[in-house]
Amino acid sequence: MSRARTAQSASVKAVDSSINELISTQHKQQTEHGVPMNFATPVKGSQLNLSSLLADLTPRTYTWSRLKAAISVHRKVLLTPRTLEVSNLDMSQDLFTTPLRTPLPKHLRSQLLRHDSLVAGENADLSDAEKVYHECDQQCPLPWEECILPHRMKRCVKIGEGTFGEVFSTTNASGDTVALKIIPVEGTKKVNGEDQKTFGEILHEIIISKELSSLKGKQQNQTCGFIGLNDLHCVQGCYPPDFLKAWDRFDQQKGSENDRPDFFEKDQFFIILEFEFGGIDLENSNGTLASLGVAKSILHQVTAALAVAEQELHFEHRDLHLGNVLVKTTKETTGSFILNGTAHSMETKGVLVRIIDYSLSRLEIDELTVSCDISKDEELFMGQGDYQFEIYRLMRKENGNDWTDYHPHTNVLWLHYLCSKLLSMKYRGSGGRGVKVLREELTRFYDNILQYSSATEALQNCPMFQ
Ligand SMILES: Nc1ncnc2c1ncn2[C@@H]1O[C@H](COP(=O)(O)OP(=O)(O)O)[C@@H](O)[C@H]1O
Ligand SMILES: [Mg+2]
Repeated sequence: MSRARTAQSASVKAVDSSINELISTQHKQQTEHGVPMNFATPVKGSQLNLSSLLADLTPRTYTWSRLKAAISVHRKVLLTPRTLEVSNLDMSQDLFTTPLRTPLPKHLRSQLLRHDSLVAGENADLSDAEKVYHECDQQCPLPWEECILPHRMKRCVKIGEGTFGEVFSTTNASGDTVALKIIPVEGTKKVNGEDQKTFGEILHEIIISKELSSLKGKQQNQTCGFIGLNDLHCVQGCYPPDFLKAWDRFDQQKGSENDRPDFFEKDQFFIILEFEFGGIDLENSNGTLASLGVAKSILHQVTAALAVAEQELHFEHRDLHLGNVLVKTTKETTGSFILNGTAHSMETKGVLVRIIDYSLSRLEIDELTVSCDISKDEELFMGQGDYQFEIYRLMRKENGNDWTDYHPHTNVLWLHYLCSKLLSMKYRGSGGRGVKVLREELTRFYDNILQYSSATEALQNCPMFQ
């Protein structure tokens, strides 16, 4: 079972500072502080280090003009990083190169701050690095131990991995278990055979994670189905020894496909995304879920979450393989969501679903589209041996290889995939009465789901959800 690696050929477009700014403003106000045949799933789905924000061309609002102004500034920064003029400040031009590779000298930090506040109202000429710091509520990268206190570092356990990140659990200040996704950025050293993400590319994941996390507090369209993002840090330094110990334990017990992250130098940058602990991914849940009743609830919860995000954000996940759906147990018997202002409830069957990993996802915020152009990533579309790989090709067929536009049927394709996987999983209580009926119900779902144009339509019309 080998992880799908993806080509580096797809074009990377600029991430727009204005969206970023807009989102961080919103978030300042909102955020507070768990083998049978056909189960031979590749360990990881496609891991793309590509991100792009593509501007929609329908200007209407004040926001648009603000955003558009910021885009043009941002593009200028990208195109001429070393010639950007900063009036009335004598700052090193290097401060505004993209990416920013070294921490700012202390005497310049205050100037940067002044500059930041000076131009914030006019959509500052921020570099990608600065936009990331801004998202993290930081002025510059911090040492590891300032972001993760030593006693929390000692408690960390590695719980997952992808090509670009290692994921550890630990506890936060309130004693809750959290998941730390740690992604090296901007360095020249290859990690797991891939180039490191740039600050610009990491903004894609940050922006989408923030948007989806905030759906839990929305009035019209509300869901807890996307993993909660608690906190965000940018750190600089070698990989902490406690994390390396946790990395080794995981490697001894489960075996890692990644390189041991001990080769980073002290000038290496990392982004730490602190997520709610979402449980165990479905790839590691074969034989552990109670029954097909749970499978049905998982499909219901995933469909509802996707529908809510479709309505609110024109969201497509585009990579919803088993490694990106988490489940954890709950005592609550029902879960709720709000779709276009109407509250609904559904049975949990003792599990809560959390969707993660937005590397390929697409959404819209205020007429701007955040998407990932994978049109030239041939490797992604060449996979064989699992239905997962077929889905990438089916998505491409439907959108004609244009990854900007909204095609919510891609969400339906992933529901079809998930249903086929859930039908072929082993369950703890696989005997029992009612199992035959449930299997027939899920099989009907599998046979009919593709006719719906979106997760929203499936949620509203599919007999299994009524
Ligand atoms: N919030 C979380 N709670 C529990 N486990 C998680 C969480 N986030 C990630 N994981 C685990 O880490 C793995 C990799 O995380 P993911 O975000 O999918 O990274 P990648 O983008 O590299 O695939 C997941 O498949 C899952 O097993
Ligand atoms: Mg993943």
